[in-house]
Amino acid sequence: MSKEKRIPTGIAGLDRVIEGGVRDNTTLLVVGSSGTGKSTFAMQYLNYGLEHGENGLYISMEEPPEQIMREAKMLGFNLDKYYEKELFFFHSKGKDFVKLVDEQLPALVEMNKNFSVKTRVVIDPLTPLTWAIHDKQEQREVITKLFYTLKQLGPVLITTEEHAAPGETIGEDVLIPIYMSDGAVHLTYRPIGGAFNRALEIVKMRATRHGEEVYPYIFVRGIGVVVRTTPLVSAEDMRKYDDLFNKAIRTAADLGAGETVLERLAYVKENWSYPFSPKETLQIFFESQGLTDALTRDEIARRKEESRSSDIQLDMRELSADTSVAVASAIRKPSGEGLIEIDNLSDLEEMIQ
Ligand SMILES: Nc1ncnc2c1ncn2[C@@H]1O[C@H](COP(=O)(O)OP(=O)(O)O)[C@@H](O)[C@H]1O
Ligand SMILES: [Mg+2]
Repeated sequence: MSKEKRIPTGIAGLDRVIEGGVRDNTTLLVVGSSGTGKSTFAMQYLNYGLEHGENGLYISMEEPPEQIMREAKMLGFNLDKYYEKELFFFHSKGKDFVKLVDEQLPALVEMNKNFSVKTRVVIDPLTPLTWAIHDKQEQREVITKLFYTLKQLGPVLITTEEHAAPGETIGEDVLIPIYMSDGAVHLTYRPIGGAFNRALEIVKMRATRHGEEVYPYIFVRGIGVVVRTTPLVSAEDMRKYDDLFNKAIRTAADLGAGETVLERLAYVKENWSYPFSPKETLQIFFESQGLTDALTRDEIARRKEESRSSDIQLDMRELSADTSVAVASAIRKPSGEGLIEIDNLSDLEEMIQ
């Protein structure tokens, strides 16, 4: 998890599940088929920045600025008042785009270095570029350069049209942009009726603890998109499973786990932010590390005794006589039973202690 300053996207509900917003100088891709709300996303994002004292740069390959602002108005965003003061447009068709990427944008970045005002960048949509350049290698190079250049201005939001074939989750033509982006959200429309008609999923978000659910969203005139999220598990709630983790770590050590496995478990403990118990994950992980099958209770007891023989003397000073007798007899207690099941960590823990 990063402590880096986050920039709110202004997309209601989204920031809650991405640690408060995007990181500066990164790209966020919004993927979705026609009518899912990509342009609404873009306007909302830009508008938030403008309303908070930032500049905006809108790059379009299809529509002229007047049309974009007209559509914005219909969605409830009045961009007119910022036009050519804080909000600038680049309108560039198909192949001209290469010139834009090679010359105009780098020049703009250079110029912008003298400004302290942050610029939020939007490309809506990127699609004509991917259509104009058929060669995948060239496409990749242009997109790489475009993203690299724009990121120097500020946080960038790019939309791209998807044309998924039946059964495909994400169409092939959006794989390159997704791959090149720091973050990606997927908007889907399912004509199934009811609340889940439209849903958002976070495909990826570099260096961010992000929500992993399918979030329904709605359109609200005057706001734009409202993503119906619940906030992620709070910092206090993240500590809820510490005891269980501590037991698991001790148990793993007792089962002979190596240093790296123990470190990994400690890392998982620190980063567990899911709203469910880690028990099942730990069981599966223990098994994958061979920490269940190989060891019988006797073997554990034997190892324990070996490693304790020196420890016990040290511990004696702290333990009462009764406790140490109990510990010693627990260790010596022979057991005919077979495999240990991590199923009940606390049982195992008690037995070992
Ligand atoms: N305020 C709104 N109320 C109801 N529906 C809306 C609203 N805003 C947008 N929509 C619906 O979403 C559709 C697509 O929005 P848009 O952002 O243009 O999608 P995309 O850019 O993905 O094609 C609109 O055509 C409209 O049907
Ligand atoms: Mg659109």
